[in-house]
Amino acid sequence: MNVLVIGGGGREHAICHQLRRSPLLKKLFVLPGNAGTTSIATNIAGSATDIALALEVARRESIDLTIVGPEDPLAAGVVDAFQKAGRRIFGPSAAAARLESDKAFAKQLMRQYVVPTAEARVFDRYDLAHQYIATRDEALVVKAAGLAKGKGVIVCDDPSQALLAAEDMLVKRVFGDAGSRIVVEEKLDGREVSVLALVEGHTIALLEPARDYKRLRDDDAGPNTGGMGSYSRSDLIDEATMRLIESQIFVPLLDGLVREEIPYCGVLYAGLMLTPAGPKVLEFNCRFGDPETQALLMRLNSDLLVVVDAALNARLDEVTLAWDTRPSVCVVMAAPGYPDRPELGERIDGLSRVSESRDLAVFHAGTQLDAGRVITSGGRVLSVSAVGDSLTEAADRAYAVVENISFRGATYRRDIGRKN
Ligand code: AMP
Ligand code: GLY
Repeated sequence: MNVLVIGGGGREHAICHQLRRSPLLKKLFVLPGNAGTTSIATNIAGSATDIALALEVARRESIDLTIVGPEDPLAAGVVDAFQKAGRRIFGPSAAAARLESDKAFAKQLMRQYVVPTAEARVFDRYDLAHQYIATRDEALVVKAAGLAKGKGVIVCDDPSQALLAAEDMLVKRVFGDAGSRIVVEEKLDGREVSVLALVEGHTIALLEPARDYKRLRDDDAGPNTGGMGSYSRSDLIDEATMRLIESQIFVPLLDGLVREEIPYCGVLYAGLMLTPAGPKVLEFNCRFGDPETQALLMRLNSDLLVVVDAALNARLDEVTLAWDTRPSVCVVMAAPGYPDRPELGERIDGLSRVSESRDLAVFHAGTQLDAGRVITSGGRVLSVSAVGDSLTEAADRAYAVVENISFRGATYRRDIGRKN
């Protein structure tokens, strides 16, 4: 099969890396990819949200199957456009991708189909939001309903902070249209985990659980980011809780989507809080997580291309995913100034000294080639993923490589896989 991957981050590099192992793969293209993908795929210059270009590449290169990485092209309808053109593509339609691109819609659906989540109210007028928040005395979370590049969620310690957040979004429009509607919800306490599933209609193939480190600095200090690292291990969530997550969260949600006639095909990612009252949904994403995927795919022994192909043929029920039982850790290296003002264009040293193996991989994100040298070109620059007999061993392996890769101002956490 000729395959096109849409996106250019660490997640897409990891997907390409995994697809390369498949005996079914003929040619691999990535739009736009990064410096890391050039050695395993053909990079197509352009934007991941350029749907017309993606379609043109699919026709020109006789692409048999396309996999979408990021949320923006999904929300913009890349899947609908491909389906209309009779082309096979793995990901949800724009209507189904609203689960991520419209948090008010996601809340409404969860309420209607009794999926456990934080109690919430939706507002598009500041006076009404003010009236509501002013009567609360518990900690609240204020969220822009639209896509805000992972920045649109403000966890507030008290109502006065929540009022400011609501004003910023509804009045000052700091997130533009993404914040013209907000969700105000109760703050949940517990351990945060990511559970992803491959989904086709009613059929669910849960991936192993993963943990994402969202804050910039060690011990979960500093601002929220796209994710500074991740790990995956089987026992992150016990069997009984995984079954609850499937039966109380994925099953009713997918039933709801089928009933609403917006059937889902693609990856469904549940960001969960394991609260004392059971697992509750913080958010849904309609794609592979980044950087969860870089840790997860290191452990996947099944052929990703076979699995995705099965889902597109409505045969996902015949698939059993096989996993390496050992844990994996992914450490992200970011540019100085990330997430607000990353400084880019720095030369990266040490990459050629890394000896990659089945248990160790460097996944590029914001990198590009400049006269044959790899330079930084995005906030999250690259990540190192490793598998080990224990979480500590996996982390030690990843960090041994991280410490040998350098660029000016390289920023990374030192506690990935070492602290919960
Ligand atoms: P989201 O993009 O909705 O997942 O939110 C980003 C981050 O904010 C999550 O990963 C959590 O750490 C935090 N968060 C979101 N909603 C809540 C909530 N209801 N209670 C506590 N923390 C939350
Ligand atoms: N790691 C969080 C995300 O992919 O949204």
